Amino acid sequence: MTEPLVLGIETSCDETGIGIVRGRTLLSNTIASSMDEHARYGGVVPEVAARAHLDALQPTIEQAVAEAGIRLRDLDAVAVTSGPGLSGALMVGVGAAKALAVSLEKPLYAVNHLVGHIAADIVTPDSEPLEYPTIALLVSGGHTSLLHVREITTDVEMLGETIDDAAGEAFDKVARILGLPYPGGPQIDRAAVGGDPNAIRFPRGLSRASDMAAHRWDFSFSGLKTSVARWVEQHEGEDLPVADVAASFREAVVDVLVTKALDACEERGVPRLLLGGGVIANKRLREVALERAAARGVTVRIPPLSLCTDNGAMIAALASQLISSGRRPSTLDFGADSTLPV
Ligand code: KG4
Ligand code: ZN
Repeated sequence: MTEPLVLGIETSCDETGIGIVRGRTLLSNTIASSMDEHARYGGVVPEVAARAHLDALQPTIEQAVAEAGIRLRDLDAVAVTSGPGLSGALMVGVGAAKALAVSLEKPLYAVNHLVGHIAADIVTPDSEPLEYPTIALLVSGGHTSLLHVREITTDVEMLGETIDDAAGEAFDKVARILGLPYPGGPQIDRAAVGGDPNAIRFPRGLSRASDMAAHRWDFSFSGLKTSVARWVEQHEGEDLPVADVAASFREAVVDVLVTKALDACEERGVPRLLLGGGVIANKRLREVALERAAARGVTVRIPPLSLCTDNGAMIAALASQLISSGRRPSTLDFGADSTLPV
């Protein structure tokens, strides 16, 4: 079998994602998001997300199948995110995937969500094949991870992760401090228009020489968030320069993400950087990454946003690679693992 037809199920956070791929070709990528239901809480509520997946799975599968123009019985395999992510949300996807695979009598592949983000590149339409090795920077509301990918099916090394908040979570929390609605990323972007990114020097987490031994490739954003909160508090009663605060905060996040990612490229001798995750929607992040990477001789790959945010196509794409590499299917005794390592 050279070009396996795979349906991927993604439910690790608030997106119910169903994607269908044939080999490297994307056939459909359908998303139902419960984001609006979380908006009034200012962040993803696990129980709400799990229930929303339960409601959304069947119609989303039907839509993805219709858009791909296939029949379920033609599938060669079913794939599902088994972790990392929110336990309850993952369980809904894993249960659905097992039911689908058993009823269709198809092999089932349990895959890692973070490695899935890397596989998004593989089904990016009209792209050259992903070259190895590559450094990958994945930034979303749930994770901030730096990985060294020597080969996607056999050799992915986690270099570092956030030790507290994810980068997207920091955008969401700082937006709240500034009185802006959820999700915070696009709001901060809008508020930062015309602001001076150097107006306030907010801290770059885990970037001091003393942090390097234990946290060379890790990230921390909770100190930054606290620092913004303190700054706002200290200037209470004054006319808050929201654009300057938003631009300066965003610059601190972007600076630390891009600096660590490019340092990893240099130190590991890898002239390639792949970006993924919903925070990649940030124009300033893409701009700074492209500019500084060019100066350091690193090429940057950025899949389209629909493949950067959580989706099922990346899960199907990873399983398709695993099948082509000869990997055997998962046995049905796996479960959801909220802290699954790469
Ligand atoms: O990958 P994603 O869609 O899913 C989850 O992690 O749930 O990422 C969502 C995150 C949110 O925290 C949101 O605030 C952030 O990505 N985000 C952004 C932007 N657009 C979305 N962060 C910064 N700048 C943006 N333009
Ligand atoms: Zn993700």
